[in-house]
Amino acid sequence: MNQSELKKAAALAALDYVEDDAIVGVGTGSTVGYFIEGLGKLRNKIQGAVSSSDDSTAKLKALGIEVFELNNVDSLDIYVDGADEITPHKHMIKGGGAALTREKIVSAVAKRFICIVDASKQVDVLGEFPLPVEVIPMARSYVARELVKLGGDPVWRQGVVTDNGNIILDVHNFKILDPVSMERDINQIPGVVTNGLFAKRGADVVLVGTEQGVRTL
Ligand code: A5P
Repeated sequence: MNQSELKKAAALAALDYVEDDAIVGVGTGSTVGYFIEGLGKLRNKIQGAVSSSDDSTAKLKALGIEVFELNNVDSLDIYVDGADEITPHKHMIKGGGAALTREKIVSAVAKRFICIVDASKQVDVLGEFPLPVEVIPMARSYVARELVKLGGDPVWRQGVVTDNGNIILDVHNFKILDPVSMERDINQIPGVVTNGLFAKRGADVVLVGTEQGVRTL
């Protein structure tokens, strides 16, 4: 199976976690794209979704799935999303699609984070994938200098504006041995909206598409 088929297998396995009448938290990215396709077939069974990006909102609406404002929803049972890297501790790097801030907000509301990945996303130590950081535009240079002090090499993702009107710095060469501390430390830099470490709140269930089938961690 190729990578897309492994992503699809993991995504479809997540449909088993969708309960009748649910409002489902929905992430962003190509793996989630397969989940949304599957969710479309369940649209008469669920109330709808809360979305983490304009892109996912458009895909959900195109399939006739109602999309609720997060402010109008008290709680979510599940949030389903992909990851760029994930460790055995279920800590993740996310934000390859620049949707990290809304992903972190929606996932924070959900009781369970169901992470859907192909096996290539599994790592022992985070940081090979450059860490995305969403930054208020006027703070770009200052935040970049602070990230260098923390040992990283930030690169401005030119041409990308997030759904919140901000920019992304991708930080190369971090070896992230303590993801919980690093998530907190980067978020304390003035001008940072959020960073792509999901460690304080990691995943609860990981569905991994492998050649031998979908593994549940
Ligand atoms: C979006 O901002 C990301 O957090 C995605 O969840 C992550 O990049 C995984 O994307 P793919 O499913 O496309 O690999």
